[in-house]
Amino acid sequence: MSLLELDNLKVHFPIRKGILFDRTVGHVYAVDGVSLKVEAGQTYGLVGESGCGKTTLGRAVLRLVDVTEGEVVFDGTDLAKLDEEAMRRFRRRLQMVFQDPLGSLNPRQNIESILAEGMAAHGIGADQAERREKIKAILAKVGLPANALSRYPHEFSGGQRQRIGIARALVLEPDVIICDEPVSALDVSIQAQVVNLLEELQESLGLTYLVIAHDLAVVRHISDVIGVMYLGSLVEEAPSDALYEGPRHPYTKALMSAVPVPDPDLEDRRERILLHGDLPSPANPPTGCRFHTRCPWVQETRCATDRPELTDTGDGHRVACHWTAEIEAGTLARTRATGVEAVTETAAVAEEPAVADVVREEDDKAVADAQPGLPVPGVAAGAPASDASTAVPRPAEAPADERSPSTEGGGKR
Ligand SMILES: Nc1ncnc2c1ncn2[C@@H]1O[C@H](COP(=O)(O)OP(=O)(O)OP(=O)(O)O)[C@@H](O)[C@H]1O
Ligand code: SF4
Ligand SMILES: [Mg+2]
Repeated sequence: MSLLELDNLKVHFPIRKGILFDRTVGHVYAVDGVSLKVEAGQTYGLVGESGCGKTTLGRAVLRLVDVTEGEVVFDGTDLAKLDEEAMRRFRRRLQMVFQDPLGSLNPRQNIESILAEGMAAHGIGADQAERREKIKAILAKVGLPANALSRYPHEFSGGQRQRIGIARALVLEPDVIICDEPVSALDVSIQAQVVNLLEELQESLGLTYLVIAHDLAVVRHISDVIGVMYLGSLVEEAPSDALYEGPRHPYTKALMSAVPVPDPDLEDRRERILLHGDLPSPANPPTGCRFHTRCPWVQETRCATDRPELTDTGDGHRVACHWTAEIEAGTLARTRATGVEAVTETAAVAEEPAVADVVREEDDKAVADAQPGLPVPGVAAGAPASDASTAVPRPAEAPADERSPSTEGGGKR
């Protein structure tokens, strides 16, 4: 059995209206049926656009939000069914590291007080002296000096504050750490240090991670398995390298196509898929396949009516698309103009920068003419193409932080 298993997890937030009579007028389907497994000692990376439900999923595991439906099985126990007191005991074993280290540290408490607070609450350490010794050892492990104990959060740099956030989780001796965008608030030059530190700690302490990020490059670096979320559901899951080498779901293909590659020739030639339209509201998700309003391969049958299940397609890939086999075989043509810049001749593009735009306009018109019945709101409304992803330089390529040379080194690939 896996250390952590989510089974059909749903978190729906009620939308309430009215002053005198508080009525529920709808729901935000933040997490809507996610099943995944996180193996002991491994890292599961969860990626997706802003608002797709990543943080809510992490918070649901820790029961920081109410679980609407489904199971969160940790070490054989369904946390979703525990009462508050029983959950409190489990919480020590599941810790969270937040995106904004400053916002998550009380500015009025010194570091010793911040770290000792949770230890005392969970009965770790016989007295303050014993807790202090343990805190000192953990601070050394995360690359902070012992004199940090008496200092306050504002006296540290962003990277050091994230180390304090990690130390706060570690002093409780957890099994699982949920890292919610652990490096996105940090300078690129510091990101690599923190990612490498997380990896070192995993190795030496046998930790299990669920790492949440919108940045594919960060997640690839540290994950064994990656899950891609779209509007509250997983659309694809695969071992990290397999996902990067051959994404199978149309949404993942679009995300991957936005990640720059280091080889300039390849970068110029590769195909970029720009999705039309914005992410629909999770309060009013599309019917059928939730991606059908933006999918370049959307079909007249099934896509708008049947919700695809996450299905094993071989090599550890699980994909939620009715047409995976046909798309992989190349027998299913794209039905919607995607803003694809199919650049095959670098020189031609350099000389004629307007060509791609012209092709895109013609493609849009051709699709609208040929398939008037298809639900193609992005094209029909002339919605602007939006970039499906952001990407910062890979942590492995970022320069080292001189403050903690011990954390340099390669990452998991
Ligand atoms: N407490 C809440 N009450 C109502 N709606 C909420 C609540 N928390 C989150 N949501 C909504 O649920 C959806 C998912 O939010 P969530 O923060 O989980 O997304 P995310 O993937 O973490 O996004 P980001 O990358 O921006 O952090 C959003 O539409 C958000 O507005
Ligand atoms: S089911 Fe249809 S709309 Fe959904 S990803 Fe597959 S082809 Fe696209
Ligand atoms: Mg979030």
